[in-house]
Amino acid sequence: MAGIPEHLLKRAQERRDALAGKTAESGDAGALATNLPAKTAENKPAASAAVVSAPPPPPPPDPAYVVAAKSRKKIPFWAMATLSLLPLWAFLYVLAVKPQERVVEGPLAVGAGVYGSCAGCHGAGGAGGAGRVLHQGEVLKTFPKIEDMLNFVYTGSQQYVSAGLKIYGNPDREGGAHALLSYNGNPMPQQGEKYGGGLTEAEILGVVCHERYALSGADPQSEEWKSEYEKWCSPESEIFAALEAGAANFDNLAETYSAMENAPARVGTDPRPSGK
Ligand code: HEC
Repeated sequence: MAGIPEHLLKRAQERRDALAGKTAESGDAGALATNLPAKTAENKPAASAAVVSAPPPPPPPDPAYVVAAKSRKKIPFWAMATLSLLPLWAFLYVLAVKPQERVVEGPLAVGAGVYGSCAGCHGAGGAGGAGRVLHQGEVLKTFPKIEDMLNFVYTGSQQYVSAGLKIYGNPDREGGAHALLSYNGNPMPQQGEKYGGGLTEAEILGVVCHERYALSGADPQSEEWKSEYEKWCSPESEIFAALEAGAANFDNLAETYSAMENAPARVGTDPRPSGK
């Protein structure tokens, strides 16, 4: 008996009941049950044949792992939402890995990079060397007005000397005006394109901002420097943007921005002192 599964016994019994035409005797479950083992064994071939012609038996119950696989939710509820964000993710990814565009760099960021070409003479922090000391407010004493410093860096010492000038920057400089070629006899090399220098005007503005605000310590929040900073050196500087886009240049800045509050003084690309 142990070898015959319960459901087969039951099915055979149902079959026999059907063939016997449901006699009153078939209701006697107890009597039938006791007869079952022997009869089932004898009748097996007949019973199987009957089963074949009968409607197909129910499929065997699924093994546990199939049941588990069928009842599992195949796509998590958050999958669609997550997948629909993929294009956004791809977009942000591309934004993040592509090289920064220059427009997002303000003058100070540009200038910090450009200053690498000045550091050999002026020192990485502006402490001086073959070139003059720029840090600790020194360069601000020489050039209280940024326009004069832009011009000097553009032309270099030599153009001033050639124009017959003796000093550059503020003549009333604290500690004395800086006479041309008086530091160690060497000139400040010209940087502007007109004289064969390698920097654009936007780069010159950037490096000058770096020297004034990062090296020399001008405070962009202070009364003294706030308006200069906003106009020339802040990331929102209209002038810097115009120089970078080629929409303005040093020669026409004063004209172009004459309507601006606190309009820029003349920045030459020749050595005439500003305002003259
Ligand atoms: C080859 C060395 C050398 C390099 C490179 C150099 N300078 Fe100079 N710089 C000098 C010398 C020398 C002077 C003094 C000029 C004079 O006495 O006429 C000077 C003076 C200056 C001054 C005037 C400082 C003051 O207070 O008198 C500024 C501003 C300046 N340089 C900015 C720059 C910038 C910006 C760069 C880079 C774009 C740069 N220099 C690269 C040698 C150099």
